[in-house]
Amino acid sequence: MAEGLERLVSAGAEDVERAAEAALRPKRLDEFVGQRVVRDQLGLVLEAALARGRAPDHVLLSGPPGLGKTTLAMIIAAELGTSVRITSGPAIQHAGDLAAVLSSLEEGEVLFLDEIHRIARPAEELLYVAMEDFRVDVVVGKGAGANAIGLTLPPFTVVGATTRAGLLPAPLRDRFGFTGHLEFYDDDELVQVLVRSAGLLGVDLHRAAANEIARRSRGTPRIANRLLRRVRDWAQVRGDGTLDRAAARAALEVYEVDEIGLDRLDRAVLHALCVRFGGGPVGLTTLAVAVGEEPETVETVAEPFLVREGLMGRTPRGRVATTRTWQHLHLRPPPTAPTLFA
Ligand SMILES: Nc1ncnc2c1ncn2[C@@H]1O[C@H](COP(=O)(O)OP(=O)(O)OP(=O)(O)O)[C@@H](O)[C@H]1O
Ligand SMILES: [Mg+2]
Repeated sequence: MAEGLERLVSAGAEDVERAAEAALRPKRLDEFVGQRVVRDQLGLVLEAALARGRAPDHVLLSGPPGLGKTTLAMIIAAELGTSVRITSGPAIQHAGDLAAVLSSLEEGEVLFLDEIHRIARPAEELLYVAMEDFRVDVVVGKGAGANAIGLTLPPFTVVGATTRAGLLPAPLRDRFGFTGHLEFYDDDELVQVLVRSAGLLGVDLHRAAANEIARRSRGTPRIANRLLRRVRDWAQVRGDGTLDRAAARAALEVYEVDEIGLDRLDRAVLHALCVRFGGGPVGLTTLAVAVGEEPETVETVAEPFLVREGLMGRTPRGRVATTRTWQHLHLRPPPTAPTLFA
């Protein structure tokens, strides 16, 4: 990597990535690729609400990272012609934090609660009441003189997003009138995402290159867009600017994305599973420690795709390697290794 580029990447890699991502976000429902079921259902909910002139039911969006939850939340506000207030579970550590946000909402606004499963308990109870009765109790004063004043809120719509729907307490889940679960994208859909993004970036992406990138994007538009930008970098710096199949292959090799799209974390997880734990079963936490990651990262970022691809099995006793895992790592399973789907 050129020295200047390296510095830029290490200085503000996240900011640069986030800005690049925002620029590629579809703004309206009909630009949103794939997820036909969720899109149709959500389209109906929004159209009906618009026809009635009222805020729609609260919406919960769940699914692995990078599949379009935040994008859809912004689209919901845009389709309703309203503004969106953005906060997240980790930002709400006290009931007062949430009360402040709620009591400043305007009629019809969308309140986007990202990572809603991480909201603090006391705030969660306040949220139940606000979502159901459009009411919030605000405590005024301190100590013995403190007083709870009930405030009526104007109708608004909560859009919650979570990578871990299973962690949401039932009373919270029940307060959403519509739940959309986002699925991994197929290669054709990812090609559409890539073609759209290439248009926005003003680069000429060959069809074969789009296929190659799509195939290695782990069913995830965020990854597809990220790999597209990396291929563009490669083509500009090392190639002749053409985004063809050869450029895509060469660039993806530099960035250590393998033939089926596994990245360094995925491979580290599979390698630990097979080599250190003999194919398992091994508990999630132990596996995460072995690769130096948080269990939540392994569980939400790496695991869903590995399980979907049959590269890892989940059993009540822990994670296990499958026949395909050993094959993919070019390893021979020990004769005693438990092989799932053998
Ligand atoms: N259906 C889609 N069509 C086109 N582009 C998409 C689509 N879904 C996602 N993207 C692109 O992928 C990027 C990531 O999507 P988004 O930020 O909405 O994911 P997310 O589900 O909120 O992820 P996280 O759980 O990490 O917050 C967006 O910037 C957008 O450009
Ligand atoms: Mg998001």
